[in-house]
Amino acid sequence: MSGANEKLDKLAGDYKAISDKYGEGLNGKIAIVTGSNTGLGYEIARALAACGVRVFVASRNLQKGEPAAKELAEKDTSKAQVEYMHLDLASLKSVRTFAEDFRKLGLPLHILVNNASSWMVPESMSPTEDGFEYQAASYYFGHVYLTELLKDKLESSAPARLLWTTSASETLGTINWDNIELTDRTSNFATYGTMKMYGQMVARVYAKQLKSKKVSVYMGQPGMSSTDFFNPEKFSWYKPDATLQWLLQKFIGLTSEQGAWPIIFNAVAPEDQLQSAETGLSMGPEYYDTGVLQMPNITNKGLIRYQEPQNDNIKDYSTCERLYEATIKLLQRKPVVHNGPKLGNVGS
Ligand SMILES: NC(=O)c1ccc[n+]([C@@H]2O[C@H](COP(=O)([O-])OP(=O)(O)OC[C@H]3O[C@@H](n4cnc5c(N)ncnc54)[C@H](OP(=O)(O)O)[C@@H]3O)[C@@H](O)[C@H]2O)c1
Repeated sequence: MSGANEKLDKLAGDYKAISDKYGEGLNGKIAIVTGSNTGLGYEIARALAACGVRVFVASRNLQKGEPAAKELAEKDTSKAQVEYMHLDLASLKSVRTFAEDFRKLGLPLHILVNNASSWMVPESMSPTEDGFEYQAASYYFGHVYLTELLKDKLESSAPARLLWTTSASETLGTINWDNIELTDRTSNFATYGTMKMYGQMVARVYAKQLKSKKVSVYMGQPGMSSTDFFNPEKFSWYKPDATLQWLLQKFIGLTSEQGAWPIIFNAVAPEDQLQSAETGLSMGPEYYDTGVLQMPNITNKGLIRYQEPQNDNIKDYSTCERLYEATIKLLQRKPVVHNGPKLGNVGS
């Protein structure tokens, strides 16, 4: 497949080159990128803005989101249109308000990037007001609700794309069908891996569900990239798995520009160069699979390629569908959702 094995370094971080090569046809399109005040989301928003896309920086913190949007608007081209909109994915109420505010703008939606996530948050943050473990709320339940509320927008704006930022930590995921909200677990690496696995599972379902509507769904993951995700200031140093991740990404990780490139590629490359999320494949940097951790190929940090899912739950489409249906039913029982627009095509 052409494109999939391009050297990252050729284009990662070179937003003019990305715009020159892939920007045609993107000018004036509308995108929402969650968690784009920093890290990979920031780079994804930057690439889209450089391609002439009007980008909404959807993030939970006004003090970080507004300056980031302003900076992005001025960064690469004076024509860039980047705006901040408040979205706390860990609150279903906030997700609903965000979707309602976006709809009030009367704009189409061509690209939705489900990117934001939290990692190893303090135990005091769980359960959330809606009864979810915090990481699961912020990456999984929040994004599923957001997608459900904006799905018709994507459909009516087609051709459109729905992107998920995934993670190699899906290998750690396990399902307890009696507690998919994960409140029976601590907010550790395995719980993070579980909710990232959930994301890949529903991305497969959305890809199949939306195919006939000309909404393409793609998954991309950054390997191990140097962002604030592993910033030790957010953790206690006694957490050994956090410390290990921090050290690894500092010494052998990719830059945030390199890490964002697989997801940017999913946003800008022609469809014939991409593999639908329905396949379970996720675009990402080349890495060595040690059986426990997937380590970026430090001898050649430049390659991206499709990666097969490692987790049996992702591989089995019927399990993916079961999770989607269980998730929609769970969401429908939450008061904010119950009293809001009807969700999906799953009965309550
Ligand atoms: N970095 C890596 O090596 C790596 C590896 C695999 C996968 N990933 C995935 O890449 C994605 C982006 O991560 P990153 O590395 O760019 O991390 P990051 O620099 O920490 O950025 C995460 C973004 O998500 C936002 N966020 C967190 N919780 C949120 C919530 N409840 N509502 C709204 N926004 C929220 C953060 O907002 P604040 O600024 O307010 O915290 C921030 O904007 C995540 O899905 C992560 O799982 C990263």
